[in-house]
Amino acid sequence: MVVITGRHRRPTSPVWGVAAVVLCWLAVLAAAPRRPTEGVVHDVALFVHLGSMTVGFGAVLLVDWFGLRWLARRATLADVLRTAQGAHFPTWAGFAGLLVSGLFLGVPAGPKAIAVLVVGLNGIYAGILMSELTRHPTPSTALLARAAAATLISQLAWWTAVVLGYLNSRG
Ligand code: HEM
Repeated sequence: MVVITGRHRRPTSPVWGVAAVVLCWLAVLAAAPRRPTEGVVHDVALFVHLGSMTVGFGAVLLVDWFGLRWLARRATLADVLRTAQGAHFPTWAGFAGLLVSGLFLGVPAGPKAIAVLVVGLNGIYAGILMSELTRHPTPSTALLARAAAATLISQLAWWTAVVLGYLNSRG
């Protein structure tokens, strides 16, 4: 993960990112109401939940779309990396919004909770891969394979959370 401060880029240890994701995830699961909420609190939280999903998952889909364009030779790797850098903030803002709004909705079922954790941890790993790819303009096959695996895991985890969240709301 790269923190941009002024004109300087300072790499931060991924351990902090992993710790932040795990601690926030645990805190939200511990604090979320055991029974589904109702009324205006539920309605506002659900709106924020869906809005955050649009922002976070939308940013992820945009980056993956550029990845597909790169595979089809319609974009350069630099295009993909620039898009990924631009998508960094909306992705994490959306993820944070999902956690915070989830606090007012209720505890998700076990598989969805795991999918949410995978989204967060894989996001940290994707940040590490992004800085490696930025440092290696001609990446090795192994590095590209790791990036492809992270993309696949990201898509699987996001879609699992979306589908299970939807099924949960249907009762
Ligand atoms: C990657 C993260 C997440 C995604 C993509 C996601 C997605 C969704 C979706 C699509 C729905 C269905 C909304 C509807 O049909 O109206 C939903 C509902 C729900 N989500 Fe999440 N969610 C995420 C994280 C969380 C977290 C962290 C919590 C709780 C701590 C949570 C708790 C709930 C609950 C309780 C509902 C049911 C709300 C209701 O209809 O009453 N979600 N989620």
